[in-house]
Amino acid sequence: MKIKEIKARKILNSAGNWTIECKLLTDKGEFVAAVPQGISRGKEEKESVSPEKAIFQIEKEISPLLRKNSPQTQEELDRLLNNPSWGSNATLAVSAAFFKSQPLPSPSQLPQMMMLVFEGKKHGNPALKIQEFMVIVSNIEEGKNAYEKVKKRLEKEGLATTVGSEGGFSPFGINNEEEVIKILEEETELPLALDVAADTSPPSPSTLLDIVRRYRVVSIEDPLPETKKEEWKVFFQEAKKIKEEIMIVADDLTVTNPEKIATGGEQGLFNAVIIKPNQQGTISQATEAIAVAKRYGLKTIVSHRGEETNDSWIVDLAIKENVDFVKFGAPCRGERIAKYNRLLSFSEV
Ligand code: PGA
Ligand code: ZN
Repeated sequence: MKIKEIKARKILNSAGNWTIECKLLTDKGEFVAAVPQGISRGKEEKESVSPEKAIFQIEKEISPLLRKNSPQTQEELDRLLNNPSWGSNATLAVSAAFFKSQPLPSPSQLPQMMMLVFEGKKHGNPALKIQEFMVIVSNIEEGKNAYEKVKKRLEKEGLATTVGSEGGFSPFGINNEEEVIKILEEETELPLALDVAADTSPPSPSTLLDIVRRYRVVSIEDPLPETKKEEWKVFFQEAKKIKEEIMIVADDLTVTNPEKIATGGEQGLFNAVIIKPNQQGTISQATEAIAVAKRYGLKTIVSHRGEETNDSWIVDLAIKENVDFVKFGAPCRGERIAKYNRLLSFSEV
């Protein structure tokens, strides 16, 4: 394939903020990809730049370099994009557009879903100390039914069914985490997953352990701040004593960085990791992070971001890399639905 030119432009994301979309013009056709942004970002994520700067970098710096070097594989391309002066949004937009030009092998097995039902903190009602309350399902129908049942329950109780950043319910009438978990347990029979996003006002570790003990919670993401590595280790040990199969998931702690995943895996801080390509800025870095996680026996979870676009290449990445789980938010809001509908195209409901 020959890259003839690369164009970029500003588009609005799901929060009404500007992000970028990039178009790769090649002798095989045109390939367009847009990039998301996080709302509760890890401190060590690679920096993005302003949309204007990203467009300049893509059109004036990256495009000439790629035209000259003519990369033929994702690895070759991403090696050329590995330049710290470029924003992660600029490099990922180009990397993802190239990814879309590549053939996708047919999936062997589809991932399970951590489907969002309630959200709080920076994504919704700030009084809640846990950011995401999810059900774990293996098909969309199951998750959709759970979401519907909870919606009916909220309506019956006169609570608002307005939604947060990722389509999860976020009624201001519920300010207590356990109350949310109880509704999920009463309305569904599904295993539950939480994202604490502990860098801002988390519940104490003992409260979280108590939640693991008392409810059907089988997965907790970022239970502790990214600075408290020793506490992560203790928490993981304690949680395993309560529930052998518990998943302790690193997101802000590892920021899709292969070295951080390897170190944390070796030290026994967690047994699952979130993969968000824009935390590092290329498809190859995300792929490598997945490979390292698998090498350490860690579960892999490919995730969207708080501020999304209607693009759905993240689904293709999850399929191609055969990951264990995906996180695409609630079955609500166009930018989340775009991912579920893409996933449906790979399967029967
Ligand atoms: P984000 O948060 O808004 O930074 O994408 C989602 C998460 O913490 O998993
Ligand atoms: Zn998270």
